[in-house]
Amino acid sequence: MADQSSGQKVWRVGVAGLGTVGGGLLSFLAECPDFAPAGGRAVVTGICARSRSRARTVDTAAMTWFDDPVALAKSPDNDIFVELIGGSDGPAKAAVEAALALGKPVVTANKALIATHGAELAKLAEANGAPLLFEAAVMGGTPAVKILRESLVGEDVVSVSGILNGTCNYILTEMETKGSSFADVLAEAQRLGYAEADPSTDVGGFDAAHKITILAALAFGGAPNFAAAEIEGVDQVELEDIKLAHDLGYRIRLVASAVREGSGVAVRVHPALAPFGHPLAETRGALNALFIEGRRIGRIFIQGPGAGAGPTAAAVAADIADVMTLAKRPVFQSPASTLVPEPAISAADRISRVFIRLKVKDQPGVIAAVSETLAEAGVSIDGFLQKPSQGEGAVPIVLTTHATAESVVLEAVERIARLPAMLERPKLLRIARV
Ligand SMILES: NC(=O)c1ccc[n+]([C@@H]2O[C@H](COP(=O)([O-])OP(=O)(O)OC[C@H]3O[C@@H](n4cnc5c(N)ncnc54)[C@H](OP(=O)(O)O)[C@@H]3O)[C@@H](O)[C@H]2O)c1
Repeated sequence: MADQSSGQKVWRVGVAGLGTVGGGLLSFLAECPDFAPAGGRAVVTGICARSRSRARTVDTAAMTWFDDPVALAKSPDNDIFVELIGGSDGPAKAAVEAALALGKPVVTANKALIATHGAELAKLAEANGAPLLFEAAVMGGTPAVKILRESLVGEDVVSVSGILNGTCNYILTEMETKGSSFADVLAEAQRLGYAEADPSTDVGGFDAAHKITILAALAFGGAPNFAAAEIEGVDQVELEDIKLAHDLGYRIRLVASAVREGSGVAVRVHPALAPFGHPLAETRGALNALFIEGRRIGRIFIQGPGAGAGPTAAAVAADIADVMTLAKRPVFQSPASTLVPEPAISAADRISRVFIRLKVKDQPGVIAAVSETLAEAGVSIDGFLQKPSQGEGAVPIVLTTHATAESVVLEAVERIARLPAMLERPKLLRIARV
């Protein structure tokens, strides 16, 4: 359809989901419908959410209301379908499938959907000649998907790793700066609206795992393989870990990484120590950060907002602009018909440096016993710190190791746990590769 006055092509956009991101998108498109002049204008013609009566960010009177996102996806009155409901299955998936089956371009911010069903949706999209775009699914307004899909299309990427969940980074930063417990900081973050009422997707590491799964697929040319991701969240990080890591010159971050090793790929999310001065240690608050390492390009580092109405809407708009300018690429790196998951590498085969926190009885010979146990297992100590006794004869000890196979370290830690002088189970955290 052409605009009468300007003669520009008008793209009619249907938006399902009018919450944080959907509301941000409505504001964005109302403020600047001509944001992609090479492609024409974008005008929201149809909308869908749960509550019809809830106030929205713009006047929606001229937009057609749909109760059912699938009906909006199928409506002939829009040219682009934007899915901003969320969830890996249910209405979001049904609506995306309905639009793609009709050959309608789809833009989504839904990382759970793409990480879980990306390969099958890519097949549907490409079979019907419809773009399926999801820049906003990873790092909100900070470009990451396009960098891997477009700018680095010919690059031999070796690894992608970084901080992909702003809520967890905010919690870890607040624990460190305020000296508050995980539970207290989480409660405060929920009160301020930085954390969801049900925080398990964020603090359990699943949100970061969805994102790194998507980046891994784009980086290494395979299909997203969320089931193979190894996931640990920040919910087990205690204030004492943060303080002791700090004493050794480290900050704890939730690090998501995808690394090509031999013929496979290891995709993992876990708390890890990063030394002061390292860009991950210096990424504070709700910021996100990502390293991309490639054989020719070396290392790229990007940092920026990973969520929020404004940044995420800008990323959704960038995808809408790609549709409007008729940019054409496969959904992932390779045609969907050839996508298969990369073989997953087991954690046990990974070589890591680790931080081990112990609480031991204040008695002679304990440190020697710990050192001997590690030495017998072939684990060599890099750093060591003993704190003053905490009363009742309990002494905190932390040590860091040189790089060792994780299976070897885990076995050594099991043996340490059985030493009679141990007062609690040893705590183990990995040190980020830097
Ligand atoms: N928030 C961020 O900063 C951010 C950043 C990157 C990516 N994302 C992704 O963007 C998507 C949306 O996130 P959000 O934070 O905007 O979520 P949100 O604020 O919870 O909004 C969800 C929207 O979906 C609507 N909705 C829920 N169930 C529905 C159904 N069955 N049918 C129709 N509409 C339904 C809700 O309607 P009501 O308004 O009537 O309740 C609401 O408008 C998610 O996939 C999320 O992972 C979010």
